[in-house]
Amino acid sequence: MLKKIMLSTLTASSLLLAANVGGLSSVKTLKVNRGLTKLAASCVECHAKKTPGIVNDWRESRHGHAGVSCLDCHGVQKDNPMAGQNCPGVKGTNVYISILVSPKTCERCHPQEVTEFEHSGHARAALQIKSKKSMQSLIHHYEGRDCPGLSEAPQSTGCAQCHGDIIKVNKGGEPTPQTWPNNGIGDVYPDGSVGNCTSCHSAHKFSIEEARKPAACASCHLGPDHPDIEIYNNSMHGHIFNSEGSKWNYSSAPDAWEPGDYRAPTCATCHMSGIGNLKSTHNVDLRLKWNLWAPISKLRNGGYETAASTYMKTGKVTKGNPLAGNPKGSTYARSQMKQVCSSCHSTTFTNNFFIMADKQVELYNVYGKDAKAMITTLKKKGLMKKDVWADAAFRIYFHLWHHEGRRMRQGAEMGGADYSHWHGVFVVQQDIRKLKSIYDRRMKTGKIGY
Ligand code: HEC
Ligand code: HEC
Ligand code: HEC
Ligand code: HEC
Ligand code: HEC
Ligand code: HEC
Ligand code: HEC
Ligand code: HEC
Repeated sequence: MLKKIMLSTLTASSLLLAANVGGLSSVKTLKVNRGLTKLAASCVECHAKKTPGIVNDWRESRHGHAGVSCLDCHGVQKDNPMAGQNCPGVKGTNVYISILVSPKTCERCHPQEVTEFEHSGHARAALQIKSKKSMQSLIHHYEGRDCPGLSEAPQSTGCAQCHGDIIKVNKGGEPTPQTWPNNGIGDVYPDGSVGNCTSCHSAHKFSIEEARKPAACASCHLGPDHPDIEIYNNSMHGHIFNSEGSKWNYSSAPDAWEPGDYRAPTCATCHMSGIGNLKSTHNVDLRLKWNLWAPISKLRNGGYETAASTYMKTGKVTKGNPLAGNPKGSTYARSQMKQVCSSCHSTTFTNNFFIMADKQVELYNVYGKDAKAMITTLKKKGLMKKDVWADAAFRIYFHLWHHEGRRMRQGAEMGGADYSHWHGVFVVQQDIRKLKSIYDRRMKTGKIGY
């Protein structure tokens, strides 16, 4: 939700200072006097020639219509660590700009979205990678072979594009190639703020329609270890979306996007949007009962995610809270998710569905615990290689929970039968046998072997 504001204050200079904008639905119905200052208008005029792609997207956006200017987002104070003048329009003047636009800027006008985002698991995405030694050694040592200057490439071209990075700038405020550009969801900005609003609302359209479509999540939530878009396409909901979703209406205001605009839910409908009496949120954890990505699935009773707020208060890089969820607890979270279903399905339908989906998660845990116990014993007895990635038992264990085990759990909870079964439990039951045979051999011989 937007903060309340007098529309007449929507001029570039006052917006640099003011933090208030009116309710979205009321803003939409009014003709807004652009009222760009001369300076703010000059950005648009020149950039229309130099970077027409950007100006065109902006012009068609709600921001363009409401007179939120280039300067409102890119203008910074001289002492901001991101401040620079690498633009002929401002060079040598007392105006400073930044090519980076952090959530702190969006927060001036959209404070609720930013706070909700900071409380979500998305906000730990970059921090947790930086805080864990095992991941840094995977990236730089094992994948990057400790090659000076090259070992940073796996992080920049891979992890960071989804998770984000701790963005570094040079003296002129320009971001380094190691850390930017990226679309990663948990970017940490030099001004101390955390998050990336362009991950789902790409610049410069910043469109609500785009974010409501599955494509907005699919660029990250795919592949062998979290195939959420594949699961969605496999589900009845994806079936319906893929056959007719291009004709649905995605542009209603947040409190008014309801069945009728669409016939089946998208990722956003279940995880973020308002529906019925349920409020829309930028905290994707609020409706989650389980943690479905860890080696063992536990209930999410840990309250809000803390990595971003800890970082913003203390500058400390921490791994965050794997059990972050709804601060009212996992039972409440599940009741919120069921509320989504209730706009289209009966209580019996929804309850029956979740009883069996949860059993599949608990069944996974039986495998996950067995596998973990074997690895723990092998470690204790000195029967694991120091270099875990060279150890056959460890590699099987990793795939068991990180790949097929996640597919099994996420497939079941989102109605993707092929992922729950053939890409899921079927592979899990094969892998636990492979692990067990290595375990038995090592325990019998007292040697690692291969
Ligand atoms: C609502 C805020 C907002 C407005 C308004 C805005 N921008 Fe941006 N702009 C962004 C964000 C966010 C990024 C991505 C930066 C990042 O990753 O931190 C960006 C990136 C850019 C970039 C670098 C991207 C690239 O592909 O090279 C340029 C240049 C730029 N903006 C120019 C402009 C111009 C010119 C205007 C006015 C027509 C404008 N912006 C209006 C938020 C905004
Ligand atoms: C006279 C033309 C002109 C004007 C006026 C102008 N720009 Fe630029 N701007 C450019 C050009 C050219 C570039 C460089 C594009 C490139 O690197 O290819 C640039 C670069 C930028 C960048 C990227 C900076 C970077 O670090 O690479 C941003 C952001 C930007 N301008 C924003 C603005 C804003 C905000 C205003 C208004 C205060 C503005 N520009 C006014 C022409 C202009
Ligand atoms: C200076 C105030 C201001 C800033 C800064 C600002 N916005 Fe907005 N934003 C608005 C206003 C005003 C609207 C509503 C426009 C309307 O409905 O006509 C809006 C609407 C939006 C929408 C809804 C668009 C739609 O399709 O309905 C999104 C998404 C959005 N902003 C994202 C962002 C992001 C991300 C940033 C930071 C990169 C940002 N905004 C920065 C004022 C701002
Ligand atoms: C730019 C990449 C990116 C996009 C786009 C993205 N996500 Fe994520 N998402 C991630 C990453 C990375 C994580 C893992 C965060 C972590 O735990 O470090 C994640 C985690 C999650 C989680 C679990 C959070 C937790 O606490 O464990 C949910 C649920 C989720 N995303 C839903 C969505 C939905 C729904 C969308 C689209 C509306 C979406 N994501 C868009 C990258 C993305
Ligand atoms: C294609 C996008 C993508 C890439 C590339 C990617 N991840 Fe992820 N990662 C995700 C998503 C999405 C999740 C959320 C999975 C879920 O919730 O089930 C995730 C989850 C995780 C998690 C578990 C969540 C947590 O909080 O602990 C870790 C750890 C992780 N990723 C580390 C990495 C590392 C390290 C790299 C690079 C070596 C990497 N990821 C590359 C998208 C990606
Ligand atoms: C994981 C994807 C995702 C990310 C990241 C994201 N948004 Fe959104 N955003 C959405 C979705 C989905 C909606 C529509 C929600 C609905 O249907 O109720 C939305 C709606 C909005 C709206 C318009 C609705 C309103 O409440 O006025 C604004 C403004 C907005 N987002 C700002 C932001 C800001 C600021 C950030 C960065 C902190 C951000 N978004 C990051 C997915 C995202
Ligand atoms: C019909 C509603 C629905 C739709 C549509 C949906 N999800 Fe889910 N999603 C769920 C449910 C239910 C769970 C399990 C929640 C729990 O733990 O109780 C879940 C779990 C997840 C998780 C696992 C979080 C974890 O703990 O690892 C991620 C990530 C995720 N969804 C992302 C997505 C993405 C991306 C899409 C679209 C491609 C999507 N979802 C579509 C309902 C949905
Ligand atoms: C916007 C409406 C809508 C919402 C919200 C919704 N669904 Fe559905 N769902 C449908 C439609 C339509 C079908 C196809 C109906 C049919 O063929 O009988 C469907 C089918 C399904 C199916 C396949 C059932 C079958 O007949 O085999 C499952 C399972 C399902 N939904 C579960 C859920 C769950 C769980 C939720 C909430 C997390 C949910 N749905 C939310 C509209 C919705």
